[in-house]
Amino acid sequence: MNKNFKDLVFSGVQPTGNLHLGNYLGAMKNFVELQKKTNCIYSIVDLHAITIFQDPKELNNSILETVAGFIACGLDFKKSIIFNQSSVSEHAELAWIFNCVSRLGWLNRMTQFKEKAGTNKENASVGLYVYPNLMAADILLYKATHVPVGDDQKQHLELCRDIANKFNNDFGNSEFFPIPEPLIHKNFSRVMSLRDGKKKMSKSEESDYSRINLQDSEDEIKKKIKKAKTDSSAIPSDKKDLEKRPEALNLLNIYSSITSSTLEKTLKEMEGKDFSQFKKKNSLMY
Ligand code: TYM
Repeated sequence: MNKNFKDLVFSGVQPTGNLHLGNYLGAMKNFVELQKKTNCIYSIVDLHAITIFQDPKELNNSILETVAGFIACGLDFKKSIIFNQSSVSEHAELAWIFNCVSRLGWLNRMTQFKEKAGTNKENASVGLYVYPNLMAADILLYKATHVPVGDDQKQHLELCRDIANKFNNDFGNSEFFPIPEPLIHKNFSRVMSLRDGKKKMSKSEESDYSRINLQDSEDEIKKKIKKAKTDSSAIPSDKKDLEKRPEALNLLNIYSSITSSTLEKTLKEMEGKDFSQFKKKNSLMY
């Protein structure tokens, strides 16, 4: 579909607080692999961060910490372009044009807006509402063809594809923008909270025990794994038996991903053990 465009990867991470294991396994691990194979652009998307109020001084620190996190995870300035979104004003300019292409009906379907705005929608910023249009501008500004993200960004990427298609149709040039492909890891695209296996691991979750931050010390990580919610049943041999055990599935997925293994292999290794034995092994790895 994108035969007239050179392969180009684009992705972004918001500089809001600490990077966590969800960011790493869901997105950044993939960023590092992709920079070995193709041209990549990675942005610290501060214009996205201000859709929710940010203290300017803290935001500056968070931007620097996010860059440090990128480097610590293995991103290399010599291989990838790494930059701060607001330093390129064309992101905001193209976003305005996309505000005029995108449809209210499309934005009304965005589940992340509903989650973030909560019950008091009237009080949410307009920026939070049109944020997916800015995300489309980030990607299409560079005519990027591939976008590595976690599962929570899938809907925004579908919107980006709709915007690219509509723009191309409206202005009679079917090849003006590429239709970008999401790159979503099949098994680890949604790392869940350590306190509630039905919620994704997130920077905004109140309890720090719900996530493993990339800056946590070894002791903190061990403590968090120890306290992570599980259940009293033993680890099964078949992943179907984990369907109604989201916390158990999450910990086993995390373990599989960190050991570069698969859930099937982990189940073979751990079958019959209870979670206290499993957690001991899991926390020894950090
Ligand atoms: P952000 O900053 O919330 O998250 C950065 C990346 O981490 C992934 N992620 C997760 N993956 C698996 N499990 C989780 N619990 C988890 N939490 C976060 C996200 O999917 C994301 O890939 N809107 C985007 C940033 C953005 C962007 C872009 C991405 C702005 N412009 C253009 C791609 C292309 C966001 O808020 O990600």
